[in-house]
Amino acid sequence: MKISIDNQHLYDINAAISVVFALNTDELLHEGILNELNFKAGQDETCYLSEFKTLYVGVEANEHDLFRSAAATAIRTLSKYSYSSIKLSQYDLNDKEGIFTALVQGFILGAYSFDTYKSEKSESPLTEIIFSSKSLEDEASDIAVLEEKLKQAKITAIATNYTRELVNTTPDDLFPLKMANIARDLASEHNLECKILDELGLEKENMNAMLSVGRASRHESQLIHLSYKPKNPRAVISLIGKGLTYDSGGLSLKPSTSMVSMKLDKSGGCAVLGIMKAVSELNLPVEVHGIIGAVENMIGGDAYKPDDVLIAKNGKSIEVRNTDAEGRLVLADCLCYAQEKVQADYIFDYATLTGACVVALGNYTTGLMGHSTKLKHSMSRSANNTGELVGALPFNRYLKKQLKSEVADISNISNKPYGGAITAAQFLDNFIEDENKQKWMHFDIAGPAYVESAWGYNPYGGSGAGVRMTVDWLSNIK
Ligand code: BES
Ligand code: ZN
Ligand code: ZN
Repeated sequence: MKISIDNQHLYDINAAISVVFALNTDELLHEGILNELNFKAGQDETCYLSEFKTLYVGVEANEHDLFRSAAATAIRTLSKYSYSSIKLSQYDLNDKEGIFTALVQGFILGAYSFDTYKSEKSESPLTEIIFSSKSLEDEASDIAVLEEKLKQAKITAIATNYTRELVNTTPDDLFPLKMANIARDLASEHNLECKILDELGLEKENMNAMLSVGRASRHESQLIHLSYKPKNPRAVISLIGKGLTYDSGGLSLKPSTSMVSMKLDKSGGCAVLGIMKAVSELNLPVEVHGIIGAVENMIGGDAYKPDDVLIAKNGKSIEVRNTDAEGRLVLADCLCYAQEKVQADYIFDYATLTGACVVALGNYTTGLMGHSTKLKHSMSRSANNTGELVGALPFNRYLKKQLKSEVADISNISNKPYGGAITAAQFLDNFIEDENKQKWMHFDIAGPAYVESAWGYNPYGGSGAGVRMTVDWLSNIK
């Protein structure tokens, strides 16, 4: 999709049709044909007037995320028509409210569809979007400002779609070694350093918790370490991703209905790959390390078992009481690896870690956990800037006692059924060094990473949760 900015007035730009975003307070709704057609401009409501070659899309309020959604609606509506180009005016002078950025992202995010396994591909005829730098009232934005915003918005939205595509790919097509090869390709295209550890390498690093989870799989587990290292970085950040290419639950097997969609369990790792892609394309002045534990959790004679005691990389012993709580075992070792290899200022991990987080916050919201209120606040701001939803879940000293084990240093599940998202994060806290406590934040993306129905500008399936807010956060490091 080609997206460009033209400094002519909208009426002078040549395109097949116009898109007009209408607020339900707009005067144009109260007279003429739109009124006759009873078009109320409710959010994402559309009205196409063929004689004027104009598509109207309703926007409920002047908020950037509502424009993001309306742009996605516009592109989805138009994909059914045969127009090849659209034009629209500027809705926010110099992108002051983030509406221009939101529109660009909404078009790209809304145009995404997953058709890899369909015989008939959904090729949209629409290939060009032209923004006028002028508003309908003739206020002109600085074209250089818009060009820069366009570049950033495109990179971030395309990286989100890249993450979605990886998440949606089936477990037989995207297994740990494949994920490692995808990381290798990303590294060679983007000038990143790439180090991969296979199972022999994991053994040498004493990553026995991670190794045990992958033992019954026919696919070898892989640790992926990508690094983006600009000169004189303002900060060093480690991003750790849960890359369970499939989670059957292991011997504590999931019921069949819960197992469907567990290809999503690599979403944290895929988000890290998407963030690395965006960060390097944006040339951000921060050093970023992406560390992913790519593993498949399966059953078989060689499977790890409830009752096993695993020794993690930092020497802590873990009693396995449920093999379906595998993500925390993989992350425990990856967090230790990250802290040993990289002296980071910030350590973020991304994981579809618990069903409990979905129970707590619903399908669309990421659970943010950690010791630093400041970090949680600043990430909430970045989520707001980008239309992602987050909710902070608080640690407390009582809940962490639920992880007590009678036979090892810690149990991999809580002994009580409530507060599972928090206890999972507090399990991870056992693998964060004292000096890093304030630097660490955990993102439980189990809710938004993959939803089996479209929501706003997100399609059925992978959403790319975590990518946009993190790229925004990294872009704002002073
Ligand atoms: N991958 C799942 C969590 C999950 C559930 C992600 C639903 C997305 C949607 C994770 O490995 C898991 O199975 N967690 C268990 C933990 C329990 C055994 C303590 C869960 O949430 O039930
Ligand atoms: Zn599991
Ligand atoms: Zn899992």
